[in-house]
Amino acid sequence: MNSKQPDGTPINVAEKGDGSDERDVRRATQPHQRDFPYERGEEAQVTRREFCNFLALTSTALFVSAAGIAGKAALDAGAEPSYAAMKIEGAPELAPGSSLNFRYPNEDDTAILVRSADGQYFAYGQKCTHLACPVYFEPKRQRLECPCHDGGFDVRTGNVLYGPPPRPLDQIMLEVREGGEVWAVGRKAGGHERSV
Ligand code: FES
Repeated sequence: MNSKQPDGTPINVAEKGDGSDERDVRRATQPHQRDFPYERGEEAQVTRREFCNFLALTSTALFVSAAGIAGKAALDAGAEPSYAAMKIEGAPELAPGSSLNFRYPNEDDTAILVRSADGQYFAYGQKCTHLACPVYFEPKRQRLECPCHDGGFDVRTGNVLYGPPPRPLDQIMLEVREGGEVWAVGRKAGGHERSV
């Protein structure tokens, strides 16, 4: 319904802004409708559809990248750090059933090399996994023992045999090279749980 201006001229609702935008567009496009048909409703629908597609694509891209980051973090968490190989001095001369101390991978990391009665080599970080006392090799029982709270570890696996240590000893990977040289080539954390 039209109102009147102060001078009595009727005011078209279109001029008041009620739907005027739509009418203006129709009026402006009228001469070209045959050659270039234009429907605002359709345009709005296409725009909504495009927007939904855009949202879906963006969500998928975000999900894929988040999954990639999570996967990489998981891989990194499980990866062992790599250390430079180091020759363990005195290893070839070590008598079966005895041990020697060395440091690996850094000067602060005390370690123990054991040569079992059958001549095989095993090496571990020397810190007990309970409260970090240094373990030692007990040749009679062929075990690594911790004097602080009576913890014991298997010399061939580093696993806990008894006592309060919560997890195996850190293992040092070894390579026996030409001439009987023994090299430390890596260090691996001793797991998270007791195996016995
Ligand atoms: S520190 Fe080794 S058993 Fe407690």
